Amino acid sequence: MDNKPHKSLAKLAKIYGPILSLKLGQVTTIVISSADMAKEVLQTHDSSLSDRSVPHALTAFNHDQFGVGFLPLSPLWREMRRVCKNQLFSNKSLDANQYLRRNKIDELVNYVSQCSLKGDAIDIGSLAFKTSINLLSNTILSVDFATISAGINDNKENKDLVMNMAKTVGVPNMSDFFPLLRLIDPQGIKKTYVFYIEKLFGVFNNIIDQRLKLREGDGFIAKNDMLDSLLDLFEENQKEMDREKMEHLLHDLIVGGTDTTTYTLEWALTELLRNPNIMSKAKRELEEIIGLGNTIEESDIARLPYLQAIIKETLRLHPIAPLLLPRKAKTDVEVNGYMIPKGAQIFVNVWAIGRDPNAWECSNLFSPERYLGTKLDIKGQNFQLTPFGSGRRICPGLPLAMRMLHMMLGSLLISFDWKLENDMKPEEIDMEDAIEGLALRKCESLRAIPTKII
Ligand code: HEM
Repeated sequence: MDNKPHKSLAKLAKIYGPILSLKLGQVTTIVISSADMAKEVLQTHDSSLSDRSVPHALTAFNHDQFGVGFLPLSPLWREMRRVCKNQLFSNKSLDANQYLRRNKIDELVNYVSQCSLKGDAIDIGSLAFKTSINLLSNTILSVDFATISAGINDNKENKDLVMNMAKTVGVPNMSDFFPLLRLIDPQGIKKTYVFYIEKLFGVFNNIIDQRLKLREGDGFIAKNDMLDSLLDLFEENQKEMDREKMEHLLHDLIVGGTDTTTYTLEWALTELLRNPNIMSKAKRELEEIIGLGNTIEESDIARLPYLQAIIKETLRLHPIAPLLLPRKAKTDVEVNGYMIPKGAQIFVNVWAIGRDPNAWECSNLFSPERYLGTKLDIKGQNFQLTPFGSGRRICPGLPLAMRMLHMMLGSLLISFDWKLENDMKPEEIDMEDAIEGLALRKCESLRAIPTKII
């Protein structure tokens, strides 16, 4: 399996078919590799197949009993999903706090402008990480977790903490394959995670304390970030939203949202540098709809179908969670004549499905045109394209992720021309991928030189 399980499992599916069963250590694992089978698992039998298989690391601080991402379907999970849908990720809330993200996009453009004056190449993955984490930490808490241009006051600590947490959960853990080993945690992975999660909760609690003080003061003006929404709930009804629930939810939003948006942006820019005609077409759309010298707003995204198609195509070929988050069967379930036994772990190989020649014409070709004039979308209804999952457990952060990705990519394209470092040719870009931390990333970092357009 190494760090490319999506590829090894796709090869097995070619031999054994779109539903297969494996033993990973002692854990019975079902692998789904076609759009039809994905529909069976994610839609038809969603209610029985929507529990989670929990990595041992994430039992730290009882995270599995509070975190929305790893709770089984339960009243608490439903309550947290309701908060996500109605309070945190509704269009109304995201419109109200878009000004927090606007500042971070301006910082990104200013930083790239400085690099352009110096003719410096940029490590796109690193810049995407700092921008993504700041877009998130500001939307959620109105604070920066990273400093875009490193300086004396570089706010490195929180950024590194989140990076290390994702890396720790991503380390293959013997305790996940041989559950009896959980008693001794032989690689110390849970112990490491306990250390990090305690630190992260400390950061959250400092911010919560400061905000509560501010809210008590006269003339407090709401920031409209997610923390304000959670504290409104907390003040209304402390049973529904208490500190413990808040800490675990904030953890899932920050850790679940950062690598995913970072690597998607890096892949999108990689594909555009590899396909200069598509890059030119995207720039033409931006020039026509937004106008050179203008800034993009989130309300413009709906008017940019080609940019939207680029993001969809990027997620088809480079789904950041290539096996989704592992599901677990609550009961025995029969799927197309095959039995998924109670307790089995289920991987849906969306990487394989996104490249399946039965589902896609020229399946390995990066072609945003394939979406134009179609209703094909990533919102969990088209089972050949489910990078955010589908059904009850579909990613609740999808609406925010879409805003972040289009704003970052659109702003980098409308303000700058891009070329590869060291006169590298587009066809020379190394496209090898591997799972790092929690997400599928490019093995070799993308480095590119910007030139400011106006
Ligand atoms: C769950 C993908 C961004 C928060 C998931 C799942 C996937 C996914 C595949 C599992 C779905 C399933 O089991 O069917 C992505 C991708 C992203 C992204 C591709 C960006 C490109 C975000 C963001 C946030 C977020 C920005 C929050 C700020 C979560 C949470 C869950 C989740 C909390 C767990 C939901 C549950 O288990 O009920 N995401 N995600 N994600 N995602 Fe995302």
